[in-house]
Amino acid sequence: MCVPGRSIAQSGGGFQLIQKTRKLLATDSQPAAIVLCAGQGTRMRSNLAKVLHPILGRPLCAYPISRAFELGASPVVAVVGFQAEEVRSTLRSIFSERALRFATQSEQRGTADAVQKAQHVLKDHAGPILILYGDVPLLRLETLRALLQVYRSRGALLAMITTIAADPSGYGRVVRVKGLISRVVEEKDCDKKLLGIRECNAGIYFADAKFVWSSLTQTSSANAQREFYLTDLVAITAAKKKLVDLRAEFSEAAGVNDREELAACAQTLRARINSAHMKNGVTLQDPLTASIDEGVQIGPDTTLGAMVRLAGASRLGRDVSVGQGSVIVDSVIADGTEVLPYSVLQGARVGERCILGPFCRLRPGTQLADAVHLGNFVETKKAFIGRGSKANHLSYLGDAKIGAGVNVGAGTITCNYDGVNKYVTVLEDEVFVGSDTQLVAPVTVGRGSYIAAGTTVTDDVPPQSLVLSRSPQLVKQGWVEKRKGLTKKKDAG
Ligand code: UD1
Ligand code: CA
Repeated sequence: MCVPGRSIAQSGGGFQLIQKTRKLLATDSQPAAIVLCAGQGTRMRSNLAKVLHPILGRPLCAYPISRAFELGASPVVAVVGFQAEEVRSTLRSIFSERALRFATQSEQRGTADAVQKAQHVLKDHAGPILILYGDVPLLRLETLRALLQVYRSRGALLAMITTIAADPSGYGRVVRVKGLISRVVEEKDCDKKLLGIRECNAGIYFADAKFVWSSLTQTSSANAQREFYLTDLVAITAAKKKLVDLRAEFSEAAGVNDREELAACAQTLRARINSAHMKNGVTLQDPLTASIDEGVQIGPDTTLGAMVRLAGASRLGRDVSVGQGSVIVDSVIADGTEVLPYSVLQGARVGERCILGPFCRLRPGTQLADAVHLGNFVETKKAFIGRGSKANHLSYLGDAKIGAGVNVGAGTITCNYDGVNKYVTVLEDEVFVGSDTQLVAPVTVGRGSYIAAGTTVTDDVPPQSLVLSRSPQLVKQGWVEKRKGLTKKKDAG
């Protein structure tokens, strides 16, 4: 929730305002965005750039960048500096389908300097610029839209979000005179009185492009941190009466400067995502421990047990059940499938009404048709398994093409690797694999064949055959009694 701040000048009647807004929306151009990601983040005490620290599996700065794209900002420019190459390549892989641009700030001289580094990328942009900080991950799209709306409707040069923090430590304090914002003072520049202010600058702005480029030159580094502060623009626009502000809840405006704040933001985001899924008809048996990445899709009447993690680009259908402690990454699971506790799926596609686990592991390239059963301690990799096939106990099925109605006995192993290359095992429809079978790939077992337990299959087997490779069983009747007799004689002697 956000409410317009008190410094927004009250203008005419509601109808007039709507008309004016419509006109402005129609004529005003699309916003561009700058996301500041160049800082080191010393308070994290880490070798990794702060903006790359993950929250629910995604780097911090991916969140504000996603919001900028969702708003329709174009272009979106990430300003990188500390560990620039790592930040750039990580963001390129996350936003590979989006036109993310980059600017470099090689020396971190403050937020105003960082914004200025994006000027050459945005030289042809004339509309509003959305400016976000890469360490403020929880901002919601609706709040950004509301900020853009007040920016446009009030003809402002700068629109900013403020928030009331229970503990404002670390934030720039918002100074008001007669209710109107007059400036933002960074914590290190605050006197005792200003430190007592709990209204903080969230670091989320819309600003007019022309105004930004002309006023950045007016910022100075005559402050406690010897940095060029973007927040100087607040005083400049306040003096011109061209500043508007919007109040957002702290849960959206929180910044991440240290690891405690990182954990707190992750918790807030988890709760927000879990609540949205529950509202959409998903049962979470323990919402405090279920962890679902942003963007994961889950159908109604699906149930997630405690400590379940759903990550990446995963999609679950309806009536799916995922048992306690299971981890599902970048996987698609169709309707009615049951994943029993402590199973791990990564890069897998699972059909309808399958039963998996407990304790099974599906690795990338696994594709299961409908009604497949994979039981405990079964590992699959690059395996296609046909409709109704079963491997219920202790197996490794790698680089395998398994048809429909195949029964894979306990302890079956595809020997797919000769130390240099990987080879494919093919089990055609209705094959019966006895327990403790080794399938030495490349090998094909024809439709309907039986493999006797304990067999090592090294050559192709034609359809409807029995294949068996075992050393003949040797039985020495009475051997135990004889042995006991021998032992007694030895003791006596
Ligand atoms: C900043 C704001 C503060 C606000 C707070 C909200 C300024 C001067 N201060 O303070 O008013 O309350 O955010 O969270 O803007 N960055 C660069 N280059 C630099 C410096 C920073 O790219 O030279 C990036 C950082 O990577 C970070 C963001 O800008 O993502 C904010 O920088 P940070 O140093 O964390 O600012 P705060 O002290 O939190
Ligand atoms: Ca910060």
